[in-house]
Amino acid sequence: MKTQVAIVGAGPAGLLLGQLLLGRGIESVIVEARSRDYAEHRVRAGVLEHGTVALLEEAGVADRLHREALVHRGFEFTFDGRRHRIDLEGLTGRCITIYGQQEVVKDLIAARLASGSPVHFEARDVRVEGFQSGTPSVRFSTLDAGEVKLECDFIAGCDGFHGVCRDSIPRGVLAIHERVYPFAWLGILAQARPSREELVYANHDEGFALFSMRSPSLTRLYLQVPPDERLDAWPDARIWGELHRRLAASDGWQPEEGDILERMVAPMRSFVAEPMRCGRLFLAGDAAHIVPPTGAKGLNLAAADVWVLSQALARHYAEGHDDLLDAYSQTCLRRVWRAEHFSWWMTSLLHRFPEGDSFRDRLQHAQLDYLASSRAAALVLAENYVGLPLAGL
Ligand code: FAD
Ligand code: DHB
Repeated sequence: MKTQVAIVGAGPAGLLLGQLLLGRGIESVIVEARSRDYAEHRVRAGVLEHGTVALLEEAGVADRLHREALVHRGFEFTFDGRRHRIDLEGLTGRCITIYGQQEVVKDLIAARLASGSPVHFEARDVRVEGFQSGTPSVRFSTLDAGEVKLECDFIAGCDGFHGVCRDSIPRGVLAIHERVYPFAWLGILAQARPSREELVYANHDEGFALFSMRSPSLTRLYLQVPPDERLDAWPDARIWGELHRRLAASDGWQPEEGDILERMVAPMRSFVAEPMRCGRLFLAGDAAHIVPPTGAKGLNLAAADVWVLSQALARHYAEGHDDLLDAYSQTCLRRVWRAEHFSWWMTSLLHRFPEGDSFRDRLQHAQLDYLASSRAAALVLAENYVGLPLAGL
């Protein structure tokens, strides 16, 4: 089997890259370890930056998004029993879009299948080879295709944090920068009407909480919990009780309860592997970097990476120049490190740290108070939250 670009992973990064390349007449084959059903039902991110929506439009997969997504002009944060609104649109002229990551994935898979471009689900023993020479390939096997050697010009490693691509790069090539946080998020999706129009982030003595949503009948909520917390320690009544407690403020608002359709515990980590390239293997999205979810940046960064990669590959194939491929890692890392800082900062601002540090608590409070009272401080938050512009869009 032969193609121009072999894409490992059918998450948002791999699927979006495939669509962007298709739009530029570049062939690709996608190889995914899990089933289509699994990929389409993995509940994760929900906040899309303006630039990510523009990229989905560019890829021709934004029709359903424009019909069903919720556009938010601001969000709120709660501390000391008070609520404050960050007017994203007023401060930056930009809004955010609430649309589930699994809906983005469904739209991208539908577009991929409609185009007739290959995607191999449930691929086993995926290996990437030869990327430091001129003859890269991806080996895998599936029930339908048997043992496959996929020869290609380039490999895009879009296989997430636990994928094979990053680990296939020889020792010593990558520098790893990492921070693991002493807490996790318990996330639920509930069959409940979102009883407030915008997202609410809460800093509370018992820990962080977040009210979000997916549709007029689905609420998404998160609670800070200890790392490696077991889900069976959290029966429904405890989850709702804690959400009510942490999201409460003087306005008396409370989230509406409903059947819990999905629940998960997600660890919190900051991670960057650099450079994001080794020979003809290019890492994109969570395969190269992780942010804690507080700033809602992970999916958006993945989209930004593949935008840069699609432009660089287009220049290679159309004009025979590799300058953009050579600049790929540096171009992406500039945005990655901005988002790493923002996500670390928002995480540090809103969570309770277990060691009980009164100095840190006072700093958090001072910063929250500043955000609530200074336009300049709110603007810095808003500009980062809506996302910095993507070059060339
Ligand atoms: P992934 O989505 O991880 O996709 C990688 C794909 O590769 C998967 O389909 C996987 O099955 C496949 N794969 C793995 N190994 C192999 C292999 N060996 N061979 C072949 N395929 C393989 N981000 C935001 O922007 N906004 C948010 O609001 C937000 N909220 C979040 C909330 C939570 C609770 C969590 C956990 C994450 C959140 N994120 C958010 C982060 C976001 O979900 C990720 O950054 C995003 O999924 C990254 O996309 P990706 O395509 O790089 O990786
Ligand atoms: C959601 C997730 C986030 O990490 C965040 O910061 C805001 C919203 C969500 O899943 O809706």
